[in-house]
Amino acid sequence: MSKLSDEKVLVLDFGSQYAQLIARRVRQEQVYCEIVRHDLSAERIRELAPKGLILSGGPSSVYEQGAPKCDPEIFRLGVPVLGICYGMQLACEALGGQVENTPAREYGRAHCQVTNGGELFAGVSAKTEVWMSHGDQVAQVSEDFEPLAATDTCRLAAVKHRHLPVYGLQFHPEVTHTPEGQKILANFLKTACGCSGTWKLGDFARETIESVRQLVGKDRVICGLSGGVDSAVVAALLSQAIGSQLSCILVDNGLLRKGEAESVIQEFSDHFQSDLHVVHAEKRFLDALAGVVDPQEKRRRIGHAFIDCFADEATRIKGAKFLAQGTLYPDVIESGGAVDGPAATIKLHHNVGGLPEDLDFELIEPLRDLFKDEGRRLGEELGLPEEIVWRHPFPGPGLAVRCLGEVTKPRLDTLREADAIVVEEIKRAGLYRQTSQSFAVLLPIQSVGVMGDARTYEDAVAVRSVDSEDFMTADWSQLPYELLATISTRIINEVQGVNRVVYDISSKPPATIEWE
Ligand code: XMP
Repeated sequence: MSKLSDEKVLVLDFGSQYAQLIARRVRQEQVYCEIVRHDLSAERIRELAPKGLILSGGPSSVYEQGAPKCDPEIFRLGVPVLGICYGMQLACEALGGQVENTPAREYGRAHCQVTNGGELFAGVSAKTEVWMSHGDQVAQVSEDFEPLAATDTCRLAAVKHRHLPVYGLQFHPEVTHTPEGQKILANFLKTACGCSGTWKLGDFARETIESVRQLVGKDRVICGLSGGVDSAVVAALLSQAIGSQLSCILVDNGLLRKGEAESVIQEFSDHFQSDLHVVHAEKRFLDALAGVVDPQEKRRRIGHAFIDCFADEATRIKGAKFLAQGTLYPDVIESGGAVDGPAATIKLHHNVGGLPEDLDFELIEPLRDLFKDEGRRLGEELGLPEEIVWRHPFPGPGLAVRCLGEVTKPRLDTLREADAIVVEEIKRAGLYRQTSQSFAVLLPIQSVGVMGDARTYEDAVAVRSVDSEDFMTADWSQLPYELLATISTRIINEVQGVNRVVYDISSKPPATIEWE
């Protein structure tokens, strides 16, 4: 979908794990940014009229066969280019430099001496710390380049072309381990590209609403609602764009949190002017899950059941041409060994609850360039209530992956009660916004306890609460002991069949946030 922002920067993705981070850092400077394929033609780039281009890093070597390359003409468009790591090597190679493999792969902090900083390093200390992560580096550059900075092991840590607006950084300015990296990026954006930095998420909302209207015309759009924030934001955006041409589908799979389906339905009727189809499918899902304990198998069966239910309902909605999804950037990963960039492969486990493959719809994914926190801020811009916008993420397969062992209705009910207590107490303690995800997990074991004078042999519940920026890594939340004590006491007293509560103190990695 085209964006109408007049000040935009494109990140050409060469398969870097940091491409998304670069985009976020650019938007942090209030410059709109999109990630695009690395091989976008110079002609297409000219049409898109960006104020600047950033070439991301990537795992390949420029001299490797099949290494991803950009159209060399992009350096001659007159659009400022910043090459980062692999991107720098590519720029230097295209403009007469020589790239060599360094004997030891360099990974980690390095002291960088800025020798001839110019506009790129304005306001950056002469000695600054940078984060290196590369196998190759540029060994020699043509006379057309001037070196700007060096480290002990990297003579050309930063370069600038003398005649073209082309810059290169061997280190990664986008990661927090390069403390002055944001300043360098800001210099590139503001000074080299001349961006004014006036972009806001509100503009994104307006522009996206406008482009959805143009794209959709008089057709109908279907949107799956999950109870999660992402699908709610997409639905809100579409509802504002096309109102009654939007039909939402909520599949109540019986695996939602306590009161969740009801609250989605209520919130929907309060905030949207579109129609909502609720598919009551608890039995269908429970039947599909009967006797299954293997996590992958659970996900697979839930995925299939979801597609069946969704497809059934979708085919009942006449004249629908588009399907809208709340895919966020972290859900989008590189395909085929990273070379194709974020071209639309969705993480397998995130596919659950995703696109029914055999349905013939055009896909609308208005959030695919955004991060979770940006999606949330967009939700606020669109006037969604705090209750929806700040709800903790919930996995597509729902409580099934938090109900270890067999998923049955009684076990789900036990889990739902315990989970509601965890969330209620964390909210009461004022920590809901501070923690990223807090929930209960029902374990597949019983343990011995004593209640009154009687011996018990009942279920154990694990409490999980994590703090995370992007859900790729997470730390367990250091919740106050009193809060943990309240949660434990309440669960054991109020939830029948549970006599033990444990707190999960594992970080991700190596543990994941969900238990399955
Ligand atoms: P893990 O457990 O991989 O989870 O550390 C990272 C984040 O992803 C969520 N998650 C999912 N979300 N469908 C989703 O939409 C899924 O199948 C799924 N599995 C995990 C998880 O809740 C956490 O926020």
